[in-house]
Amino acid sequence: RIVPVILSGGAGTRLWPLSRADHPKQFLDLLGGGTMLQATARRVSDPTRFADPIVVANVEHRFLVAEQMREAGIRPRAIVLEPEGRNSAPAAAVAALRATADDGDAMVLLLAADHAMARPAAFVEAVDRARAAADAGCIVTFGIRPDRPETGYGYVLTGREHPEARGVHRVDRFVEKPDAATASAYLADGRYLWNSGNFLASAAVLSAEIARLAPAVEEAARAALAAATRDLDFERLDPAAFGRAPAISIDYAIMEKTDRAAVVPCDPGWSDVGSFASLHALASRDPAGNAVVGDAVTLDTHDCLIRSTGPLVATLGVADLMIVATPDALLVADAHRAQDVKAVVDRLRAEG
Ligand code: GDD
Ligand code: MG
Repeated sequence: RIVPVILSGGAGTRLWPLSRADHPKQFLDLLGGGTMLQATARRVSDPTRFADPIVVANVEHRFLVAEQMREAGIRPRAIVLEPEGRNSAPAAAVAALRATADDGDAMVLLLAADHAMARPAAFVEAVDRARAAADAGCIVTFGIRPDRPETGYGYVLTGREHPEARGVHRVDRFVEKPDAATASAYLADGRYLWNSGNFLASAAVLSAEIARLAPAVEEAARAALAAATRDLDFERLDPAAFGRAPAISIDYAIMEKTDRAAVVPCDPGWSDVGSFASLHALASRDPAGNAVVGDAVTLDTHDCLIRSTGPLVATLGVADLMIVATPDALLVADAHRAQDVKAVVDRLRAEG
């Protein structure tokens, strides 16, 4: 069975003020029916295919993780705690070693904790297809057909079909976060898919590739896990050792460089819900195009995203706004500036 590894360390800054440092995006119920972390775990909970997951998260979020897993009826095999975020490559390196410690032949499915999938069965079916290629030593990503020149994603140039695995293609090139002109060219080219940010690989193969392509990451992960301490259900990585890991994503550290990459094209209704624009696109809307969640009254208002977990929001005669209220913060922004919300968070951090 495949060991799901849920990477739950992201910050989700473009969803401020819903997403906060002490309560980031993956722990929020943005679409109804559970938090993104819970949806991720449930997506891979079929016991005929998947073992209990390993969750890798920041130490600050340990009780959120434990509580949300318990509420979802999921029993993680391990909750591994990072003393600080060092991006996804060190987290993946730790997870691969942790899975190997239980089973030398483990197959791991690295999962982003903060993505939505409207058709989870299509994702599971893609994992089934990826299996043969992963058995043959590939690191398999799940490719999504792009519909816009998004610069925040990785792009995968799809090559010929894998000889031993139907529906799996070689990756001829992997480019993480291209600039706008390059992303437009890839979109026009038609052969590129988005990297969805989920990966299937043999844990041993993944460790070996990290050791080869990012030896400092592998060395730090190995030392941090070897000196980890246990308390309750948590495994705390050694802070000194983990702090030596270079902060780098698996996409830059491994996927751009490895010659073992493969891709399964799939269409699970995927969204990374990266910003209020994608949240607005997924949410149901009233006839005036407003997506409203929480306490709000709208008059002569159209194409607004309105969410409140705090005060009553009333709008009159406005259009194309994002209005997001929480008990202690309010965002009012142009609906077309969804990508720039991160700048607000940067400013708040700078001002301490
Ligand atoms: N445990 C842990 N620790 N997890 C982390 C850390 C960390 O330090 N940093 C990031 N993660 C988790 C995030 O929670 C998320 O689930 C996943 O790793 C990806 O990290 P992001 O920071 O969200 O990456 P991205 O969105 O910029 O890019 C990735 O996802 C895109 C699709 O959404 C890349 O894989 C792109 O190639 C991909 O297109
Ligand atoms: Mg992301």
